[in-house]
Amino acid sequence: MEKRGQFTSKFGFIMASIGSAIGLGNLWGFPYKAGMSGGFAFILVYLIFVALVGFPLMICEFAIGRKAKSNQIYAYKKLNKKFAFVGITGTIAVFLILGFYSVLGGWVVNYTVKYATSIFSSANAISAPEEYFNSFVSNEAVALIFLIIFMVLTVIIVIGGIENGIEKSSKIMMPVLFFFLVIVIIRSVTLPGAEKGLEFLFKPDFSKLTPSTMGMALSQMFFSLSLGAGAMITYGSYLSNDDNIQSSSIIVPLLDTLAAILAGIAIFPAVFALGLEPTQGPSLMFITLPAIFNQMHMGNLFGFVFFALVLFASLSSSIALLEIASSFFMEHFKLKRKVIIPIIAAIITVLGIPVALGFGVLGDVKVMGMGFLDLYDFIGEYVLMTFGALATAFLIGWVVKPKEVIDEMEQGGKFKFVGKKYFSFTIKFIAPILIFIVMVMSVTSVF
Ligand code: PHE
Repeated sequence: MEKRGQFTSKFGFIMASIGSAIGLGNLWGFPYKAGMSGGFAFILVYLIFVALVGFPLMICEFAIGRKAKSNQIYAYKKLNKKFAFVGITGTIAVFLILGFYSVLGGWVVNYTVKYATSIFSSANAISAPEEYFNSFVSNEAVALIFLIIFMVLTVIIVIGGIENGIEKSSKIMMPVLFFFLVIVIIRSVTLPGAEKGLEFLFKPDFSKLTPSTMGMALSQMFFSLSLGAGAMITYGSYLSNDDNIQSSSIIVPLLDTLAAILAGIAIFPAVFALGLEPTQGPSLMFITLPAIFNQMHMGNLFGFVFFALVLFASLSSSIALLEIASSFFMEHFKLKRKVIIPIIAAIITVLGIPVALGFGVLGDVKVMGMGFLDLYDFIGEYVLMTFGALATAFLIGWVVKPKEVIDEMEQGGKFKFVGKKYFSFTIKFIAPILIFIVMVMSVTSVF
């Protein structure tokens, strides 16, 4: 078997974890959900969830991973044999999530290339956004080709291993992402009429805080922080015992949340300044935004900057997803990276085919009333990740006890875990109870 990889620096580890966390969930899910669900009221609830549930769970995942130094299925098994299934559900979640993520990633590649090749052209890169989007997603060959291109990009990075693939690429992609985000924000908020967008995003409306929007905030938080599917366990397993995990578990949720809020500030002022409607889902990113770039001076350049940043965000998440999906198989069957990564990627690409075709030939196929994209998202994100987070909180809070994690954090006194008491209390009482309530709410809201 190959030597187990390891992150070579704390900076690299943090960049990779942030890379896993910041993705389409932040750039696209969060701003829209916040705008529609009470603005600042939603953001406030989200922040409270991050502090009470996300932060302690992030500590758990990093610690579980580093202690076990193995894939998530083995890691849960080592803590308690009966909990190995949490690693299994996490792995299944990751297959489904990457199944739809790679389709969306493929679209992003398409748009990035389109804008990149039009930077110096005076004509708009995508002059009729709605027709462009509809015709390319419903063209089966194109939809599949871009799915494959995105997956190949992901494979190339992950095959490079932890140090040379994931760590190196994240160290470049994350700083560039934040830099590009700032450029887009400056452009967006300086457009005349931008205030209305900021109002949409931030104006607090507490009447919109219903049980269902709170449920949405919690599952959005799990997805955005990549919690409950073993992502941070897997990345934590490549950490050395000389690293102090405490600061990372604060920095990662903080920067992830910052990116989500910044994404809203980048997108909505422009939407409102140009008198467009804030729409949901694919059409916001792939139809509304191109329409905005069309009306902007140097729109092709801004379009390129925007889609390049979305591409980096999606790639740094998809490499995490592919690494998590493969790590069990790599270790269990003692296979080389070069062999197993392309096999797992091929299986996930096949899983992605119905999603890719779901906007064309399979457009009318519905399972439980949902198209394939929504179906994968529902099972992977809402059901399995929420379940994984609940089971992990219960396992650490009540079965193995918080001390196990605290000992792993402190490494026999080498490090001081300042938030010990806070951690024990939240992981034992607050997190499991909150997650349980929300899980019941989100399941019942569908039926
Ligand atoms: N956090 C990523 C996003 O916001 C998605 C993700 C989920 C990544 C689970 C890894 C694991 O888009």
